[in-house]
Amino acid sequence: MRIVFLAPPGAGKGTQGALIKQQYKINQLSTGDILREHKEKKTDLGKEARIYMDAGELVPDDIIISMLKEEIQKDSYSNGFLLDGFPRTIPQAEALDRIFNEFNLKIDAAILIEVPKHELISRLSARRTCRQCGASFHLIFNPPILPNICDLCGEALFQRPDDQKETILNRLKIYESTTRSLVDYYSQKGIVNRIDGIGEVADVFKRIKTVLESVKQN
Ligand code: AP5
Repeated sequence: MRIVFLAPPGAGKGTQGALIKQQYKINQLSTGDILREHKEKKTDLGKEARIYMDAGELVPDDIIISMLKEEIQKDSYSNGFLLDGFPRTIPQAEALDRIFNEFNLKIDAAILIEVPKHELISRLSARRTCRQCGASFHLIFNPPILPNICDLCGEALFQRPDDQKETILNRLKIYESTTRSLVDYYSQKGIVNRIDGIGEVADVFKRIKTVLESVKQN
């Protein structure tokens, strides 16, 4: 199964992606996570990406497309994958179509998790992320068992620099002005599935599972 997430920042792509990965044994390919790893390691790509990411801006298409193309060819994605955070622009979606054509692949479903803006702001403002395994928590809705320690790997949690209020607002603005147009792009292909992203994490996952079960049968 090959799935694309179209949700705005904070809608729960990372959270739901981890559950999909576990349930369907497909790998989650998060361009944000890959970029953060480059930032951590201070690679040339990481140093360049940092300027955009910390300001809540999109990393330029040419950089992100070549990174994605290299990543997607790894053996770990041969069973299928969930694209989390890519594409985010029309040129990225067109590049993805070309890559899929080249490798004879098809996108089975585009999942749009819908969450109102005020809730996105509240989710991102109190998010804490694990530097080691990338798991994300919320101080109120989904708190770690021990304060500031990751339940999954025991590492310390931190607040992402782009989870500051002004930067969150910029990310949401860019989603509306640029990324939301992908909903039309994939609607024209007849593969968009809208999911109500409000409610418990497990309830949202149930809704996504209903969609994916029907995708699996086709
Ligand atoms: P990226 O890492 O992709 O960030 P994002 O899209 O902004 O998404 P987030 O990771 O912030 O949110 P999420 O939807 O995964 O939510 P989560 O599950 O964590 O990208 C970061 C940056 O990298 C971009 O700004 C850009 O600079 C660059 N970049 C990446 N890809 C790029 C591309 N293709 N092109 C150009 N630039 C690119 O959940 C959020 C919070 O809500 C958590 O605290 C969680 O615990 C909580 N939560 C989750 N579900 C629920 C629920 N049901 N109820 C209550 N709380 C919940």
